[in-house]
Formats: sequence, C-alpha cells, structure tokens
Amino acid sequence: MNALMYDIYTDAHAAALDAADPLRSFRDEFHIPKHGDADQLYFCGNSLGLQPKAVRQAVIDELDDWAALGVEAHFLGKNPWMPYHEFVRGSLAACVGAQPGEVVAMNTLTVNLHLLMVSFYRPTQERPAILIEAGAFPSDRYAVESQIRFHGFDPQTNLIEVEGDEPNGTISMQHLERVLAEHGKRIALVLWPGVQYRTGQAFDLREIAKLAHAQGAIVGYDLAHGAGNLPLQLHDSGADFAAWCSYKYLNSGPGAVAGAFVHEKHATTDRPRFAGWWGHDQATRFRMGPEFQPTPGADGWQLSNPPILALAPLRVSLEVFQRAGMAALRAKSERITGYLEQLIQQRLGQVLAIVTPAEPARRGCQLSLRVAGGRARGRALFEHLMQSGIVGDWREPDVIRISPAPLYNRYADVLGFVRAVEAWAAREGA
Ligand SMILES: Cc1ncc(COP(=O)(O)O)c(C=O)c1O
Repeated sequence: MNALMYDIYTDAHAAALDAADPLRSFRDEFHIPKHGDADQLYFCGNSLGLQPKAVRQAVIDELDDWAALGVEAHFLGKNPWMPYHEFVRGSLAACVGAQPGEVVAMNTLTVNLHLLMVSFYRPTQERPAILIEAGAFPSDRYAVESQIRFHGFDPQTNLIEVEGDEPNGTISMQHLERVLAEHGKRIALVLWPGVQYRTGQAFDLREIAKLAHAQGAIVGYDLAHGAGNLPLQLHDSGADFAAWCSYKYLNSGPGAVAGAFVHEKHATTDRPRFAGWWGHDQATRFRMGPEFQPTPGADGWQLSNPPILALAPLRVSLEVFQRAGMAALRAKSERITGYLEQLIQQRLGQVLAIVTPAEPARRGCQLSLRVAGGRARGRALFEHLMQSGIVGDWREPDVIRISPAPLYNRYADVLGFVRAVEAWAAREGA
C-alpha cells in the first residue's frame, strides 16, 4: 500500500474533507434517521430523500390556515392556495434548467408520463414505435406498452428496447446512434432516462434529443433519477417533454407531487390532450364555460386543483436547493461519489464491482455495486449493512445502490460504509 491509500482511508482525511465542504451546514437542516443513538449512514436519496426539518412547520401552516380560514385560505392564507403552485415554479424551473412556463408541479411521475404521451406519442402506421432502454424501470415499460396497445398497435413489434453494449450493461452513445439510425423512420417517440435507475448511468440529454429529432422522433425524458441530482438544462436540451418525481433527490416526501416539463415550442400546441379545469386558461377558468381553452405552457396539462398539503414539502425542499445551488451541489456530488469510488477501488476491489460508468459526466450521485460471488452474497451483504444502520437499496437481480447525497451526506459516511463492507468481507472470508 502506498501512502495515499492510507491517507484517504483515515478518519482524519474524511473529517478534513467534511470540514472543507462548503455545503456542510445543510446537513443540519435534515432529519437524519437514527440507528441506536447514532445517525444512520443514509445513502438512499436515490429512492427516498430525507425530510427537511422545515417541512413540518410548512405543512402545519397549511393545516392552520385551513382550520382558521376554511375556503377563504385560497386567497387569504399565509401562502394563498389559489396561486400556490406558482410558489414552486421558479425554483422548479431553475432545478431542471427550464423556462418558468415550461414546468409545472402536478400529479405523480407515471401519471405525468401518461398525460404527456397522450399529447406527444401520436403513432401512425408508418411511425408507430417507442424506443426505450432495455431494463427500463417497470412503470415506464408498463406505461409505454399500454400506450402502444391503447393506440391499437402491438408492443411486440413496436416497443424497441436498446440493450447495453458496454461490459456493465451500460449504453454507449455510438450504440444508441446506431439503433436510432436503424429504426429511426419507425420511431414516434424516444422515452429515455436522464439517469438509468439500475446502472446509475447518466445520459447527454442534448445529444440524444438531437439524434432522435434528426430521425423525426419526439423526445421525452424520465428524470426520476436526474432531478435534484444533476444540473439539467432541459430547455437547451431541446427535449419535447419530461417528467420526474420529487421524493428522491428532491426530498419532498413519499409520493410527493411530481414535475412535468413541456418545451416552450409546444406552449400553444394544438396536439390532443386530456383536459381538466385546472389546465384551462387561468384568466377565464372561473367563468366555468363549457369549452376548454388550455393555458399556454406546461400549466395547460394540469387536470385538478393541486394538493396543497403535498405541495408544501416541495416548496420547502426546492427553497433548500435554491440556497445551495445546483452548481455547488454537483461539485460536491462529483467529489463525494469520487471518494466512494476511490475507496472501493483501493479497499474493496475483491468484493464490489462498480457497474456505474467511471466518467463523472456519465453518472450522478449513485454508484451501483455488484457483489462478487453472486446474488446470495449480495443479499447477505445488503442485509448486513441494513442491520448496521447503513441504508442503501437493493435492485434485482444483483445490484446494491449507494448514493451519497451532497445536501446531507458526509465524507465520513462514505468511509463508514467502506469500513463496514471491509469488516463483513473479512468475517465472511472474501
Ligand atoms: C425511473 C422511474 N420511473 C418511474 C418511477 C415510478 O414513479 P411513480 O411511482 O412516482 O409513478 C420510478 C420510481 O422510483 C422510477 O425510478
């Protein structure tokens, strides 16, 4: 072992990194779940982000306004409910790199994917297909299959799934380009992840949109694992639409209100859509007329008046992101995930293989780890970590996902994880 290997493995080194972290004070703004008397080492922000402490009061404020004001809280509340979704518009747009009118907080992710596909998946006999990545998150696959069937086409022939061409199952841009060139004329919609949930691979959204548009396809992104994780530039990417959830990196609570993006070029589209009163032109909504006139922009896809109690955590959480800034978050994210990678390479090369690409530009916070020896050993390690208060998550068939979130994870957490795996491996005789 050389000196450097010792160096980054020490408590002193991790403590120095934490002391030098310009975002370190943000951790105090979150509830960190306990393991006994100690904080858990929580690496599961890719699944459910932790609760900002300010959320409780924000929800109580709305309950108080409801109690005190009843229906009048729509106009007289501390945060009036009528324009409530406007309170998250600016911070939501900043978070995903969109114009304010291109985003709206509404519904949940799969619902939004469906609503947007109603408008943006318009298959014809010549161009009926949807392209997704092989091994897509099941809900996305169910959604696109059901859309294809809904239009009277057969998913067997019209759902094109791009297999990984790289050793860990990740997908190179060259391969995607080849598949697009081969099937392009038949593809109506490319629905692609910002970050693939199982491998942790991040994609170049602008490049994919360019390639897909060159084939005449519409491009939509599922940013479940991208929003709050990467500094996205959705507007500049040229994507037609996108949707994401807010309970992962965006820390807005279980089943939180999701986000949707419709590019400004479609702001006044006459594409078909499923309509509801909240998508109607705001200026005339309360005339209660019989004919639907969509409000321009993403707001025009809203159906119902928004759930205020569920929007309160999103408002608080996005405010935290505004203060921290995506650029600073990304800088720490690259560093802390890089630290995790380095330690794994140096100390755990016999135990864990990193599935996620090594280039920082091709990943976010998450590292997906495969345990040497197969699934049973992987499960054994995962259970051991959970019992030790080290929380990642397991994705079938054989991946442990570990995601240091720059808002609340410390370099010391990363070191703690690596030491726990090392101790387990020594005990198990790995
Ligand atoms: C990539 C991806 N798509 C879709 C979903 C489904 O989200 P929801 O249950 O909010 O519709 C998830 C949930 O984790 C996801 O990770």
